[in-house]
Amino acid sequence: MFKEFKVNAKDFDGPVLVTGASGCIGSWALSLLQEAGVPVFALDLQKDTRRPSLLMSESELHVVKWLVGDISDPSTILKAIEHSGATSIIHLAALQVPFCKDDPIAGAKVNVLGTINVFEAARKYNISRLAYASSIAAHGVFDAKTLATLYGAYKFCNEQTARVYMQDWQVPSVGMRPGVVYGVGRDQGMTSKTTVAILAAAAGKPYVIPFTGAVSWLHAGEVASAFIKAVSQPRDRAVVFDINGVASTVEESMAMLKSVAPNSRIRASGAPLPFPMELSDAPLRDFLGDYGSIPLDKGISETYAMFGSLLEKGLIKADKLD
Ligand SMILES: NC(=O)c1ccc[n+]([C@@H]2O[C@H](COP(=O)([O-])OP(=O)(O)OC[C@H]3O[C@@H](n4cnc5c(N)ncnc54)[C@H](O)[C@@H]3O)[C@@H](O)[C@H]2O)c1
Repeated sequence: MFKEFKVNAKDFDGPVLVTGASGCIGSWALSLLQEAGVPVFALDLQKDTRRPSLLMSESELHVVKWLVGDISDPSTILKAIEHSGATSIIHLAALQVPFCKDDPIAGAKVNVLGTINVFEAARKYNISRLAYASSIAAHGVFDAKTLATLYGAYKFCNEQTARVYMQDWQVPSVGMRPGVVYGVGRDQGMTSKTTVAILAAAAGKPYVIPFTGAVSWLHAGEVASAFIKAVSQPRDRAVVFDINGVASTVEESMAMLKSVAPNSRIRASGAPLPFPMELSDAPLRDFLGDYGSIPLDKGISETYAMFGSLLEKGLIKADKLD
């Protein structure tokens, strides 16, 4: 596992509950917590260990306890806290941009109601270690240069929810707005295509990234590490920060990929992504302290190597790229 991302089990006063744990960031959070020896409970719609098993061996995965439920049902998170005795929550469960567009009601249920359920549970159980995922898409609410999406509207609503839960009921929280997350396990959502390009290169397949220009590269381990750091102590405010990773361009980063995979056939075409790609992580780093970081060339080459090894072992398939 990446030694850049250090978790200290002594910082935790009980189990950590991770919602959306089968997803990309959730899998990295499970893996880092498990490796550090922090008791961890995974909550998702199903016990889907497809992504976590790309990062953990069977015996490591065995240590993680799984809870199954729909976050939009208020009883799911209440039962999860009762059952787990969790004192920290990392709330990641959500539907991404295209899924909210396809089904706005389902998007609102999961992203908005699901988050209110988490805050209600934190209020009921006096949880002062709560971190949740907002998104750069939330900038679309006020910034005319950022595409307005329902997903972004829901995420912004969650930030306001967090603020009011602190104001009215003293429920503290740390919200983070990730940029474009990359790494093993990133396989869905409109911004996942830079990671798909690395997988294609590892599989020896051609691939066209459907956007060009500025793009942020936020390693999945780095953002998971930041979420873990956010719950590594009790908080007393509701705060929200951008978390961008490395600001680059599709062209510059694909040149880095080409240097580790000279025979790769990756191209990019299309308009730039309509989201801010050069936001500063400095305010978050000032608030959290060190949660680790990984330079872009290293992140790309290690992701390429991990995909190569997973393809060789048959743990991942690249057949969707045909
Ligand atoms: N990946 C990114 O680039 C990125 C960028 C900005 C924000 N975020 C946010 O970070 C969080 C995690 O992102 P990710 O890339 O790991 O997402 P992901 O799509 O890989 O995983 C989301 C998980 O949530 C689960 N989920 C969906 N509906 C649920 C429900 N009703 N009840 C319980 N679980 C449910 C899914 O099954 C899935 O495992 C999300 O909130 C996302 O909006 C991600």
